[in-house]
Formats: sequence, structure tokens, C-alpha cells
Amino acid sequence: MIATVTLNPCLDRTITVHRLVVDETNRWTGTHLYAGGKGIDVSRAIHEMDGITTAYGFVGGPDGRILEILLDEEGLPFSFTPIMQETRTNFIITDTTTSQQTRINAPGPRILKKELERFIGKLRRIYPSPDLMVFGGSVPPGVPVNIYHDLVMEANGFGIRSILDSEGQWLEEGIKAKPYLVKPNVREAEELLKTELSTEKAIINGALGLVEMGIEVAVVSRGTDGIVAATKEKIIKAVPPPVKVRSAVGAGDCAIAGLALKLAYGEPLIEACQLAVAMGTAAVLTPGTELCHRTDVEKMLPQIKVGEISTKQRAKAFFTGSNEISS
Ligand SMILES: Nc1ncnc2c1ncn2[C@@H]1O[C@H](COP(=O)(O)OP(=O)(O)OP(=O)(O)O)[C@@H](O)[C@H]1O
Ligand SMILES: [Mg+2]
Repeated sequence: MIATVTLNPCLDRTITVHRLVVDETNRWTGTHLYAGGKGIDVSRAIHEMDGITTAYGFVGGPDGRILEILLDEEGLPFSFTPIMQETRTNFIITDTTTSQQTRINAPGPRILKKELERFIGKLRRIYPSPDLMVFGGSVPPGVPVNIYHDLVMEANGFGIRSILDSEGQWLEEGIKAKPYLVKPNVREAEELLKTELSTEKAIINGALGLVEMGIEVAVVSRGTDGIVAATKEKIIKAVPPPVKVRSAVGAGDCAIAGLALKLAYGEPLIEACQLAVAMGTAAVLTPGTELCHRTDVEKMLPQIKVGEISTKQRAKAFFTGSNEISS
């Protein structure tokens, strides 16, 4: 079982209007509710691929209840820890005439110390223990900035491998606990390493830098260019075919689901990278917050170019000026 953790889930309420006029009464033409959050999305994508997963995190108030009802309707297993304050709601107004989106994001609810303790206690008691844990997204008010460090250490203590996908200080602190895998995108990796990663060579060196920091598998995702993964022994590059992008929202979460689905059960990293790119790229084919569809992933998988070289070979194989993969 792959356990995902979303500390700061949200309920996205999208309202569609024909032409938004501010300071006037508008009529909506459609509404949509979506249970959002990085870990939840990873669980959703795993579930889509028939993987076994449970989503953990915090929910509170009526909107938290709605979030749970939505996940129930999707058949997605979850086990949230209740909190006093209400789950945050983001309002999204979509204007169908201009296709413009106006977002009004709420701050997260404040988590009490005893709620955080209850949550950590719950994670400790997951039985049988998960094959892999995925920690994703922002951290709500009241939760220490080094929470991912503590959660990764907890998982390490139980011998459970973890994937961490966050940003800024949360990621910087979390990495110190040496999660099994991190998957920053290029911008997040630049922020983390405090260096510009404008070439493929720099990205590979950046990933290797993360490995030197104690990360077993460092994956840097590069949007249209796919991913680069590094371990002590090898470097893997996986590249998708050109596709028509409808919405890139959730592509990163689908890529993580692909990595988790393979690595949780000891499959080779090269297969995990191929599935990650297939799932990430399948996610951009769907509109809005919709994630990848299994049928698209299956069609995409053989089209992903993937190559592997040893770290010793890298200068020769990848840096010859061409973007081709030499495997
Ligand atoms: N425009 C695109 N065309 C093809 N594939 C894409 C595109 N954008 C993303 N992908 C696929 O999705 C993967 C993850 O995308 P990206 O690097 O944008 O992650 P991210 O920035 O973490 O995304 P998120 O905003 O969901 O967190 C890529 O490695 C790639 O496989
Ligand atoms: Mg991301």
C-alpha cells in the first residue's frame, strides 16, 4: 500500500460565468467541486492505475466533510485526522468568454498541537505498514516548518521509504532527513540548490548534487522535456513525445504516482521513470484539474524515450551536444 500525506488539502469550488462583470450581479452557468491537494492527487492517480493507496492528512468543518464525500464518491480510500478549524476552500471563477480564471485562495486552517500529535500517532499505527509514503504540498499554519523532516525521520525509523514533494523551506528542511526520493521541478531544484539549472548538464549535476546530500533517488522534472533521475550509480533520462497541452495542472503529481507505483514494489528505476513521464504527460492531455486517464497512460508508455547510463559514463554519453538518449 502506498500512503500519501496531504497536510493542507483544499476544496476547490469552480464557478463558470459567461462574462464576468465586477461590481455587478453575475449568473453562474455551472459549478464544480474538487477535492484538491498534492498527496490526494497522487493517491487519485495511483487509484486510476489500479494501485493500492490511502490518503492521510487533516480535514475539518463542513467543507472538510464535503471533501471526504467527494473522495468517497470517487472510491478513493482515505483516513483523515479531524481538526477544529475548517478545511480551506479556494474559489475559482472561470469566464467562458475569455477563458480567464480568477482564483481566490484561502489560507489553511490552523492545526493545534494535539491534532498534529494525533495525526503522527495515526501514521505510526498504519498496519500493515506502507510499502512507500508520499509527503506532498504546503504546510498549514500551526505546523512547524520542519514537519517533513520529522515525518521522513519517522518513516525512516520504521524502515519505510518516502517521497517528498514540496518546495521552499519545507523541502529544504525535509531533505535534511534524507527521504528516499525527491522530485523537484527545475525551478524548485534551482531554489533548493541555489544555482541556475539552464542546461541539461546543469540539471544532471544538480540531481547528482542531491544524491550527494544523501537522497537515494533524485528526480528533476522538466515539463515538456520529461525527467532526469540520478542515483549513486546511474543517470536516467525519460522524454515524452510532443503532445497538445490542455492543462498541465497535476502533471507533477501524476509523475510522482508513476514513480511510487513502480518503486514501492522494487521495480527498476528505469521503468519507474518511464511510467512517471507517461503519467505526467497523460495528465496534460486532460482539461483543468483532471488527472491522467489510464487509457492515455497505456498509449503513452511505449512512446516515452528512456535511456540509462552509469554515472562514470555521463560526460561521454549525455553531454555531446545532442539531446539524443544514448542508452
Ligand atoms: N507540456 C508538457 N508536455 C509533455 N509532458 C509534460 C508537459 N508538462 C509536464 N509534462 C509531464 O509531466 C511531468 C511533470 O511535469 P512538471 O515538470 O511540469 O512537474 P511540476 O512542475 O512538479 O508539476 P506540478 O505543477 O503538477 O507540481 C514531466 O516530467 C512530463 O513528463
Ligand atoms: Mg510539482
